[in-house]
Amino acid sequence: ATGLHNVAVSKGKLYIGTATEMYKLNGDAPYAAIASDINEFGMITAENSMKWDATERTQGVWTFTGGDNLVNWAIANGQKLRGHTTVWHSQLPSWVSSGGFSAAALTSVIENHTTTLIDRYKGKINLQQPPSLELTIFIFTDSWDVVNEPFNDDGTFRSSVFYTTLGTSYIATALHAARAADPAAKLYINDYNIDGLGAKSTAMANLVAQLKADNVPIDGIGIQGHLIVGAVPNNLQANFEQFAALGVEIAITELDIRMTLPVTPEKLAQQKADYKKVVAACKAVPACVGITVWEYTDKYSWVPGVFSSQGAALPWDDNLAKKPAYDGIVEGFN
Ligand code: G3I
Repeated sequence: ATGLHNVAVSKGKLYIGTATEMYKLNGDAPYAAIASDINEFGMITAENSMKWDATERTQGVWTFTGGDNLVNWAIANGQKLRGHTTVWHSQLPSWVSSGGFSAAALTSVIENHTTTLIDRYKGKINLQQPPSLELTIFIFTDSWDVVNEPFNDDGTFRSSVFYTTLGTSYIATALHAARAADPAAKLYINDYNIDGLGAKSTAMANLVAQLKADNVPIDGIGIQGHLIVGAVPNNLQANFEQFAALGVEIAITELDIRMTLPVTPEKLAQQKADYKKVVAACKAVPACVGITVWEYTDKYSWVPGVFSSQGAALPWDDNLAKKPAYDGIVEGFN
């Protein structure tokens, strides 16, 4: 098999995906050609356009243009959707983040936002005519990051407007609303720094165990995977196995492995080994269903804008050429 998605599927995984956005796809044809190549990417995630500040900036006033256009583009390519994200403390419009809602009112705000957003993209049917002329029908939306980043790095709950108003109940509220809106979608809780064993991973495992005990719908743990070259944890597989033992699937949802600039051949070689290590851990754990890179090219990575003098975190470089990291992903599956 050639192409990252094809290689992953040939090894029993469901997909390799990428985050992207319509403004890049519309404005950069060489970029769009790779992003729309089903051999490379079988899944797409909206990097920003399905977030709360993009979709419901004013209460009850919905903007679906960015998400809709991206979904239609993906359907045309035969790609599926990981929805990102319904309840997150960041990129919130001020009418939510400023607080002032009673517990009952904020619960209903969460229910309404989750229901409306997930309902919008549920059960999209893609009618394709492959060469055999058979009709392929599939449910388009695969998964949703229903709750994003609920924890601090020490494993305590993050004091978002949701947590300070509602305690942990907001998590169950969002998951119940999501299940009702799209019973076919896999519902995830997603966070960063839960790649290897540690306090934050333990907290995630405990939360998911509690949700299961309470009969709250939860299907998956999303491991974002914002990692650093030369500092990828050694106990990825043990951590993935501890999550899988809870009876949920897992996915690596936002993979990138950044380095201190400038790029050198040595750092690229280490990055290749690091990508291989992450992919091999996913391959080794059957519950790990797929991997999404958070953009596929360094040209559009969020990293340099946030971490000064760091970047080059992705498998394609600024000129859309494949880096050693690309081969690391392939080798990780082999
Ligand atoms: O939309 C505004 C635009 O109106 C304004 O003119 C412009 C000026 O700066 O900013 C635009 O918003 C930016 C937004 O991306 C959309 O482009 C924000 O400034 C910028 O901060 C925002 O960054 C995104 C970041 O999430 C926000 O926290 C990144 O693109 C996105 O890659 C990143 O993704 C997150 C995941 O959702 C969750 N996990 C971590 C990951 C990396 O931070």
